[in-house]
Formats: sequence, C-alpha cells, structure tokens
Amino acid sequence: MTLAIECSGKAIGDHRRISADHHPLIDAYVKHHALQCGYCTPGFIVTAKSLLDHNAEPTEAEIKEALAGNLCRCGTYPQHPKAVLEAAQVLREGS
Ligand code: FES
Repeated sequence: MTLAIECSGKAIGDHRRISADHHPLIDAYVKHHALQCGYCTPGFIVTAKSLLDHNAEPTEAEIKEALAGNLCRCGTYPQHPKAVLEAAQVLREGS
C-alpha cells in the first residue's frame, strides 16, 4: 500500500501496461485459469509483477505471502502460485 502523495514524480504502471508489454504473467494466468470473473485479476497481476521484478525465483510460499493482500470472491487462490511460478520460469529462460 502506498499513499498517492508518495508517488509524486514517479512512474506509475498498471495491469493494462503489463498486458500491453506481453508479460508472461498474462499467458500464465490464462493457461492456469487463475481468474474467473476477473474482478480481482488486476490486483493479483500487478502484485505478482512487483514480486517477480524483485525476486526472479520465488518459492510458492513467497508467492502466497506476496499475494496475501489480494482477495478473490471466486476462490481462484490455488491457481495463482502455479501461474506466477510458470511466469517466473519463462522470464528466467528469456522467452
Ligand atoms: S476471479 Fe472473480 S474475484 Fe477473483
């Protein structure tokens, strides 16, 4: 969580930019059915990208901890670590 005033002068990205940049998270989320209605998906995607930007090889526990602040009313929780682990692998392989 960040106060808006703390972002003054900083670049701000969102899930649309992540998708437009063809980040591997997008394909991994689709492949692993890590979304249903999609209401929560932007938050999960942005959080997961932040994790991968700082940790190229996160464990499942680290992923769960990083995503813990996101809520999903559809109950897709088991799929998120699978998608993030796959995206991390794709990024490491440079694909
Ligand atoms: S996919 Fe529906 S709220 Fe998460």
